[in-house]
Amino acid sequence: MAGVVKTGILGLDAMLNGGIPEKNQIVLAGGPGAGKTLLSFEFLYRNAKQGNNSVMFVVEEEAEKVLENAKGAFSGLKDIDDLVKNGSLSVEGLSAVSNASESMRQSSYEFGNFISDIEAIIADKKATRVVIDSTAVLEILVKDPLMFRKSMLALVVDLRRLGVTSILTAEMSSLEKQSLSFRPEFFLFDGIIMLYLSGEEEKRMQSMEIIKMRGSKHSFVTTPYDISPAGFKVFAAEEITQE
Ligand SMILES: Nc1ncnc2c1ncn2[C@@H]1O[C@H](COP(=O)(O)OP(=O)(O)O)[C@@H](O)[C@H]1O
Ligand SMILES: [Mg+2]
Repeated sequence: MAGVVKTGILGLDAMLNGGIPEKNQIVLAGGPGAGKTLLSFEFLYRNAKQGNNSVMFVVEEEAEKVLENAKGAFSGLKDIDDLVKNGSLSVEGLSAVSNASESMRQSSYEFGNFISDIEAIIADKKATRVVIDSTAVLEILVKDPLMFRKSMLALVVDLRRLGVTSILTAEMSSLEKQSLSFRPEFFLFDGIIMLYLSGEEEKRMQSMEIIKMRGSKHSFVTTPYDISPAGFKVFAAEEITQE
């Protein structure tokens, strides 16, 4: 289907009525351990496999660790290293962020550094699929809520200008959908997907909901999902008719 970027994730494209509309910037929100990092990684992996250069920016952990953990979680996806080697899939740390603790003390951290780092790497990798994982650190770096919103807007505008299709992950302290109303900056994005985690240990229940997806007749059904060594499986109940 033209104009749609398939996530390649089992069941999710059906929920999305084909995929993420091309050049949309979406937020993947959820609590810790819900699967934000792994789901967004799989999105890039599936797209890299299709020949679309993909880059993940990690701001909380070392890039190598994130890649190693993804390979551990997705032990059935044997060609991750091949895609990394041929340059179509990459996980990048950001010097602007890792140096920020230093500059923060002088209150001189500028969000602009972050954006220019991202731009340079996207251009260098010729990437059309982008993940930023996560926005939580940025929130700490840009403490003033209004400034943070302005920075997020600048980021969305920039990603739009670059013409990439992207997923930004966001940590939600409350897993309530209603708590989204306290995060108006998320609504600057073209789409919002929420991941919910409920229950304890063995009986954990994971489900996802598409809150909004601009230009898409998506499912509104909260749908369970599973993370397996072969990737995510979203148990989409209804196949939305595709043209
Ligand atoms: N290396 C791994 N091996 C097996 N399962 C993993 C591994 N890493 C993460 N997981 C599982 O995947 C879930 C989601 O992890 P992750 O995507 O890192 O969550 P988030 O980014 O939302 O905090 C974790 O709660 C855990 O159950
Ligand atoms: Mg994570």
